[in-house]
Amino acid sequence: MKDALQWVDDRLETIRENDLFRVLTEIESGQSPEILVDGKPYILLASNNYLGLTTDPQLKQAAIRAVEAYGTGSGGSRLVSGSSDLHRKLEDRIARFKKTEAAILFSSGYLANVGTIAALVGPGDVVYSDELNHASIIDGCRLSKAEVKVYRHRDTKHLTSMLRDGGAGGKRLIVTDTVFSMDGDLAPLSELVDIAGRRGAMLMIDEAHAMGVLGARGSGAAEHFCVEEGVPIVMGTLSKAVGSIGGYVAGSCKLIDFIRNTARTYIFDTSLPAAALAASMAAIDIIESEPERRRRLWTLIEKFKAGLEDAGMRVLPSHSAVIPVLIGEAAAALEFASALREHGVFIPAVRPPSVPPGMCRLRATVMATHTPEHIDRALKAFRAARVSVGV
Ligand SMILES: Cc1ncc(COP(=O)(O)O)c(C=O)c1O
Repeated sequence: MKDALQWVDDRLETIRENDLFRVLTEIESGQSPEILVDGKPYILLASNNYLGLTTDPQLKQAAIRAVEAYGTGSGGSRLVSGSSDLHRKLEDRIARFKKTEAAILFSSGYLANVGTIAALVGPGDVVYSDELNHASIIDGCRLSKAEVKVYRHRDTKHLTSMLRDGGAGGKRLIVTDTVFSMDGDLAPLSELVDIAGRRGAMLMIDEAHAMGVLGARGSGAAEHFCVEEGVPIVMGTLSKAVGSIGGYVAGSCKLIDFIRNTARTYIFDTSLPAAALAASMAAIDIIESEPERRRRLWTLIEKFKAGLEDAGMRVLPSHSAVIPVLIGEAAAALEFASALREHGVFIPAVRPPSVPPGMCRLRATVMATHTPEHIDRALKAFRAARVSVGV
């Protein structure tokens, strides 16, 4: 009989030939600075758990108490039977933290972007999207069926010229990551607020990698740039520095009412379980009340970046806990990652489609729970790997 899935073999073969085949690495411990893989210890420098909160005793206790009170699953979508007082309390907490009137939870940041963009724009509208925006923004744009105009990375002149050309008279939405997930650099937020205001366009920002890391209270890039009041649509995730799971959008009451009534990834999706909600709530309290965690993170980020440059690595200019070390071709990036593993450091290689071809990298990330000694050991591993791989 003919195998109708023969084409899958062909596609997999091509993926393997291009050094793009992915395999999973099983981590046998939590997202701590030191992890176990196959029973061996490694320094983890690849987690989005920027403040080390996923293993924090206060979050664990909050999650355990919530499970005891509410059980494990939420039992339904928010608009049917899956809306608890914890959902409402976390939405209120996020709104207060982001200084907006209201907020709405999604099961993930991915679903927040896809559902919100598809709710805000449609055929006849135009989305202006930075070329390095996250895949969930790209997918939201595609699903919306709006026209998508991609502007060059952080290039506000390019964006302005596109806006000047006008649309067909429909709505216009500018959307950007605030911290770019693979490059760690920042969107020019003050200019974007200004441009959106002058051109009458909606502005939506994705604070996934900024929350907990940037801003005096750890609220994100809008706080860092002092433009919190100028951004009407603020999306974020609870899965990175917050150390839990879930996504959200914060904004005016009318915006949140509209999303609650129209976003399909909200309406047709089972809501977050109590453990995740309680952990997120505990995390936001910690982020706001313990700025020393953020200060410690930034000290480690600066130390690691300076050390990598001293070691002759090509570090892309980032301003976050994401520190991209450029290698080039996929095969070289894989070889470098494997040399680092031999020296006890875990940073997987990032390859297309996550980054453009020829721009493969080690996307290193620092956590507030690393010690200076972890960073010194990692830098030693980079120097040794550089010699053995010949980069
Ligand atoms: C910029 C950005 N936006 C959105 C997401 C999706 O968030 P989540 O992992 O919570 O689905 C991610 C992470 O993967 C991201 O990096």
